[in-house]
Amino acid sequence: MSKKVFIKTYGCQMNVYDSNRMANVLKPVGYEVSDSAEDADLVILNTCHIREKAAEKVYSEIGRLKLTKMEKAATGKDMFIAVAGCVAQAEGAEMMKRAPAVDLVLGPQTYHRLPDMLSEAQAQRDAGRSSSRVMDTEFPIDTKFDSLPTESDFDRPAQFLTIQEGCDKFCAFCVVPYTRGAEYSRSVADVVAEAERMAAKGVVEITLLGQNVNAYHGAKDGENTQDATANLGELIRAIDGVEGISRIRYTTSHPRDMDDDLINAHRDIAACMPYLHLPVQSGSDAILEAMNRKHTREDYFQVIERLRAARPDLALSSDFIVGFPGETDQDFEDTLDLVRRVKFAQAYSFKYSPRPGTPASVIEEQVPEDVKSERLTRLQALLDQQQQEFNQSTLGMEMDILLEREGKLEGQLLGRSPYLQAVHVDLSGADNALDEGKDQAYNGYMGKLVRVKIVEAGPRSLKGVLISA
Ligand code: SAH
Ligand code: SF4
Ligand code: F3S
Repeated sequence: MSKKVFIKTYGCQMNVYDSNRMANVLKPVGYEVSDSAEDADLVILNTCHIREKAAEKVYSEIGRLKLTKMEKAATGKDMFIAVAGCVAQAEGAEMMKRAPAVDLVLGPQTYHRLPDMLSEAQAQRDAGRSSSRVMDTEFPIDTKFDSLPTESDFDRPAQFLTIQEGCDKFCAFCVVPYTRGAEYSRSVADVVAEAERMAAKGVVEITLLGQNVNAYHGAKDGENTQDATANLGELIRAIDGVEGISRIRYTTSHPRDMDDDLINAHRDIAACMPYLHLPVQSGSDAILEAMNRKHTREDYFQVIERLRAARPDLALSSDFIVGFPGETDQDFEDTLDLVRRVKFAQAYSFKYSPRPGTPASVIEEQVPEDVKSERLTRLQALLDQQQQEFNQSTLGMEMDILLEREGKLEGQLLGRSPYLQAVHVDLSGADNALDEGKDQAYNGYMGKLVRVKIVEAGPRSLKGVLISA
């Protein structure tokens, strides 16, 4: 009889990719994915350590799961709790002590060993223990990518594909270099093979992932290449050759690594989508320096200028941190000024959260919580206004929308514009759209790129009508 695994994912897209791969790794040993913890034999929390709140959530979830585990034990049923991802990597040993309900702890680099770890946990249970204690947070030499099953199911037309992992940049606030380790790039052949497998299963859009995706430098295949490694621009060109892949995105980029090859890919390759998430964090040179970002605001403006020259309709997104230690009112005004000058289509902003083990966490001059909150509110108001303006500017436009999932209303599918806007597309007037019940209703539309006219623009999403399939 097959067993069930419930995977709960926190944090960034890389964790989404990892969760999907954990499901793939578990399938051959008999686990099917379930959508609730209650009927699962194994629950995996794939965790994030980036801000304090993200890490706290994990402990409260473990508290809830402990009760489920006890209730199941009372009826003679077993359940394993596994904690994976960045909290596991950062404080796995402590977690083992603090949360006895946790059976398995595994880091982001060891999820391919999950089946072995499970057998070990099972053996401990069979030996009569109520909880098992298995931990693996090494950075192994054999990479997890070499152990991925080649047969994978992809349930959506837009998928993430990890090409690069880890980070060597050590921004003063950030835990990623510690939780994900040193930079590592997969080879071009490996990435293209995975893209081909995705395309063969109907995937249309691929988002290339890396904590520092544009620092990518994967080994080139073939003997007669001059350089041993390919950069991201070259990789995008290689993936552009994969039949069936019509859209390529990548995230997250660092301003320092936006080289000409990559910028030109935006100009030359139709599949390279006109949207870029390029975190700047702050608009103040003093803060950028204290953050160890190794670029100035002027550098950022110049990169944006080069990008817009290559692709005038490029929509930009970014990440901001307010209240980094030592941030003055003027530093914060500089951030607002940068936002006004660049104009973002959307963005994420966070209050600085001191993370254990990072250099910024021990700076004495921390910004008071109420100041952080006030700055965040002002920044978000400006960013929301820009997002609204950007959405308004696409009103009346015709564009290709990739239909990815069912919408909230009958007759609607939800898709993404080239600029990554969420678009509700009304298909009720389309041929065959609704006449045969909901399941068949969207045959021919779901998973496809369709031509749509934008008829409504809200702050977070758009509405469109089909022009032609
Ligand atoms: N690799 C990416 C981002 C990784 S984390 C990059 O280089 O930009 C995603 C975002 O979380 C960061 O861009 C940053 O804005 C935010 N972040 C990271 N550490 C943080 C901290 N200690 N406090 C608040 N926000 C943080
Ligand atoms: Fe963190 Fe900076 Fe690396 Fe991004 S570049 S992952 S913010 S250390
Ligand atoms: Fe969080 Fe780890 Fe991603 S800390 S943001 S899950 S790399």
